Amino acid sequence: MKFFVDTANLNEIREAVELGVLDGVTTNPSLMAKEGIRGLNNVMAHYRQICEIVDGDVSAEVIATDFREMIREGEELAELHENIVVKIPMIRDGVKAIRYFSDKGIKTNCTLVFSAGQALLAAKAGATYVSPFVGRLDDIGADGLQLIEQIVQIYSNYGYETQVLAASVRHVPHLIQCAEIGADVVTCPLSVITGLLNHPLTDKGLATFLADHKKVNA
Ligand code: G3P
Repeated sequence: MKFFVDTANLNEIREAVELGVLDGVTTNPSLMAKEGIRGLNNVMAHYRQICEIVDGDVSAEVIATDFREMIREGEELAELHENIVVKIPMIRDGVKAIRYFSDKGIKTNCTLVFSAGQALLAAKAGATYVSPFVGRLDDIGADGLQLIEQIVQIYSNYGYETQVLAASVRHVPHLIQCAEIGADVVTCPLSVITGLLNHPLTDKGLATFLADHKKVNA
């Protein structure tokens, strides 16, 4: 299972790399805005910096919603660095753009996916990744993990190579259940990944080991 961090924060990305378990990064326009990155040149420079920090796929999202502009933006993003994955929203022109990039051998991540039908379309268009949003479905009283399960099943039925990238993963149980279901990738804040470290019996056991060592080595 691949771990991506869902952030545009360079320090968080560096920290994730140092942990030694990071496979990639996803960003979106909201995450870029949160870091105060504005203006095309700054946005491009920021993506380049992310690509220099992480050895893995880096999703960079197009802003355009019409086919021609998506292609123009996506090609510009893809030229930045070999690790760039062009992130494209699940809309009609987005599906066409995914097909276009797929035919050109440029990786894509189909984002804002909230149904199995949308995921099927993304796979048919040749997306490298499909991003169903687990937490946002939970937010409206639906079952985000059930959607992950459905998509994994459908892709396995037909051998689609599109990787299921569970997004909007908000806490440790989300991540663990995605792993149980067989999602190919999860993207989440670093705190969710480091949350996997925690167990009170580990802390208690370590404290005992260190105390016992100290007793005889004092
Ligand atoms: O990758 C999509 C993700 O950023 C959405 O997460 O927590 O804003 O729903 P969230």
